[in-house]
Amino acid sequence: MTELVDRFGRRFPYLRLSVIEACNFSCSYCLPNGYVAAPGAPAPLRVDEIERLLRAFSGVGLRKLRLTGGEPTLRRDLPEIIAAAAAIAGIQTLAMTTNGCLLRKRWASWRQAGLNALNVSVDALNRQRFAAITGHDRLHDILAGIDDALADGFPTLKLNAVLLRGLNDEQLPQWLDYLRERPLAVRFIELMRTGTNGEYFQRHHLRAQGLEEALSAQGWRLRERGPNAGPAREYAHPDYRGRIGIIAPYSKDFCAGCNRLRVTARGDLRLCLFGNLGIPLRPLLQADSDPDVLQAHLLSQLGLKAAGHGLHAGLTGLTPHLASIGG
Ligand code: 5AD
Ligand code: SF4
Repeated sequence: MTELVDRFGRRFPYLRLSVIEACNFSCSYCLPNGYVAAPGAPAPLRVDEIERLLRAFSGVGLRKLRLTGGEPTLRRDLPEIIAAAAAIAGIQTLAMTTNGCLLRKRWASWRQAGLNALNVSVDALNRQRFAAITGHDRLHDILAGIDDALADGFPTLKLNAVLLRGLNDEQLPQWLDYLRERPLAVRFIELMRTGTNGEYFQRHHLRAQGLEEALSAQGWRLRERGPNAGPAREYAHPDYRGRIGIIAPYSKDFCAGCNRLRVTARGDLRLCLFGNLGIPLRPLLQADSDPDVLQAHLLSQLGLKAAGHGLHAGLTGLTPHLASIGG
């Protein structure tokens, strides 16, 4: 089997597929005024198109798929999408990132369809803070959904919290309480600058360094990186069942370990979260004919993948906000 390898020797077993651009939250760093559909925006990929896409990717080494959005759970046919992905050979990890609004209600249907990893965005553990950041007073319900999933013995559960100066940077004690008995990982993610959040970024961007120093001082230890580890630096502590990960996209060498590609809800291949290229795949997803054509296309387009993002130079590429590409 030919695998996807770029000119820097990086492999890409991991695909992040956005299944919808729309979102029902209005996170202040992403969609502060809520989602507004662009006029004339095409409908998201249908299940049959998604199946063809995944079959082609599976032929070039796909091992891990993450469904993203927008908010993927707003797709009514989400269980069908999950089931279609679960039927594709080679996909070992079938993950989704959600804001958790439908977690309690729909959890069983996703799990039954074959989902085996879940990331839930939880930017604060304090009700008012959460509501102020996301625009929705839903923290209680989301946390209850997370505890339901834990009680079910769900294998891989992670929470994402974007670090925001002045908005959630005093929450470490609450997080430590939360993690003491819960076997899950929280990932603190440094805010990334996107095309539409420039001023917000200036005000609220916070490096994770201070947080990492506080963790070390309290006995948290950096774990060794596994061979297929993503970009997070992971900390553990003998007195806690939970773990803490740090994702610092502005740190040196962040892009050297890149193992992922992205496909937008409209079916454009994106080689980088902040790249300047959208490569339309949808025309190649219309008939079952020949996955080879699509695979050859993927292999040739990968030659265009750059060594790293241009964020240090303030270049955010085609990405107005992460809802447009799936984080
Ligand atoms: N910077 C960092 N993380 C972001 N997310 C969305 N926008 C940004 C940004 N500008 C996070 C969300 C969610 C995940 C999909 O990406 O909080 O957890
Ligand atoms: Fe929606 Fe996620 Fe953006 Fe929040 S960060 S507005 S949940 S897409």
